[in-house]
Amino acid sequence: MAKARTQFVCQNCGTVHSRWAGKCDGCGEWNTIVEEDPMGGIGAGPGKVPKKGRPVTLTSLSGEIEEAPRIHTGISELDRATGGGFVRGSAVLIGGDPGIGKSTLLMQAAAALSRRGHRIIYVSGEEAVAQVRLRAQRLEAASTDVLLAAETNVEDILATIGEGRRPDLVIIDSIQTLWSDTAESAPGTVTQVRTGVQAIIRFAKQTGAAMVLVGHVTKEGQIAGPRVVEHMVDAVLYFEGDRGHHYRILRTVKNRFGPTDEIGVFEMSDRGLREVSNPSELFLGERNEKAPGAAVFAGIEGTRPVLVEVQALVAPTSLGTPRRAVVGWDSSRLAMILAVLEAHCGVRLGQHDVYLNVAGGYRISEPAADMAVASALVSSLAGLALPADCVYFGEVSLSGAIRPVAHTAQRLKEAEKLGFSAAILPAGSADMPKGHGGRWSEIDSLPDLVARIAGSRGALRPAEDE
Ligand code: TYD
Ligand code: MG
Repeated sequence: MAKARTQFVCQNCGTVHSRWAGKCDGCGEWNTIVEEDPMGGIGAGPGKVPKKGRPVTLTSLSGEIEEAPRIHTGISELDRATGGGFVRGSAVLIGGDPGIGKSTLLMQAAAALSRRGHRIIYVSGEEAVAQVRLRAQRLEAASTDVLLAAETNVEDILATIGEGRRPDLVIIDSIQTLWSDTAESAPGTVTQVRTGVQAIIRFAKQTGAAMVLVGHVTKEGQIAGPRVVEHMVDAVLYFEGDRGHHYRILRTVKNRFGPTDEIGVFEMSDRGLREVSNPSELFLGERNEKAPGAAVFAGIEGTRPVLVEVQALVAPTSLGTPRRAVVGWDSSRLAMILAVLEAHCGVRLGQHDVYLNVAGGYRISEPAADMAVASALVSSLAGLALPADCVYFGEVSLSGAIRPVAHTAQRLKEAEKLGFSAAILPAGSADMPKGHGGRWSEIDSLPDLVARIAGSRGALRPAEDE
């Protein structure tokens, strides 16, 4: 039998090295490599004698498909994000910045499930029993039958939850505090987290209990510890939001049992998280309809339309190099829109500072926001407010053409529902609803949009001359 050797594992990316080094070749990070015992983790190394394989029955692709058995929380925004409730025997990882509200959300979910007669165990590794009880009181969950433990050792946790009636759902808060006797490295290292999560997933598969794991996010926005944990679990959700704002978004990034790109929207109140079933109303809450530089974007998040206001401020600069600042959108995308406006529409912004903000602290990732951004920019530069009852969407290409985007009908329907009677959208959209009576204006190039907003180009001139 080969001798077991120690290995050196990068704590950032999980790359295994044969010797210690200051810098990891895998991710380029410094001082992240730690010596670990390979026998403790998965892929337990070459030391083990391979066992003789046992043939399994091969089957066909056609045949009966069983619906994954789910546990509904009744919190519809949470059920939506998980694809219809937690799946029995599966493991879900919920990541998010510290303090964003993960423990709050899960305590509320635990209480809701417990009220529905499920057996729920909440294992807290970060907070003492008293702290969790205080939160439960605040969330009016204290009177439910949720079972609580403050423990960080994986073997002890498994022994505890394996005892008595099988739990329907177990919450482990958080994976960063887990440690196992079988892994020889320090608590919090990749091997420890990986070994712990692996044991928990095995328990889920064996017993059919659903497992919810909480993971903190590093400042780069990834779940701390190795990426492998994300690969091991069945679903990964991120709980996001801006500390300065009350709303929180639960976003699905991986789901073996349902759709990804789904979101659940919540608002943090002094009594916990409140569901927001119509996010558009939240993001459009405090609009000043007469101010120039604001355009309402009709976006799509997963399967759901979301209307959000894009605000721009274009002002003459006093600096040698004008400033470009963006909150809630991609800054390189803004640079592209500015370049297209200059090159194809004659809109000069070289002597102007440009600030762009997405209202409510929301983050847009869709290129379909291009048209709303361009409209807000031109409106601010021209000093002309856009019509208050109009929404904008469409992708801008480098040639200045406006390209159709998906889900036209859904975007328009949401806009109508919220009282917007006009829309500016790309020409040639595939799923245009029929019989709109000319309220939707189709535009095929950015110069057309500029002409429409600034009228004859005169409106842009005074700003340019300054
Ligand atoms: P918490 O769930 O502890 O965050 P996480 O587990 O992600 O670290 O919640 C953190 C914040 O939420 C905390 O700053 C207090 C606030 N909060 C409320 O505003 N209302 C509430 O009802 C609760 C329980 C927390
Ligand atoms: Mg917490």
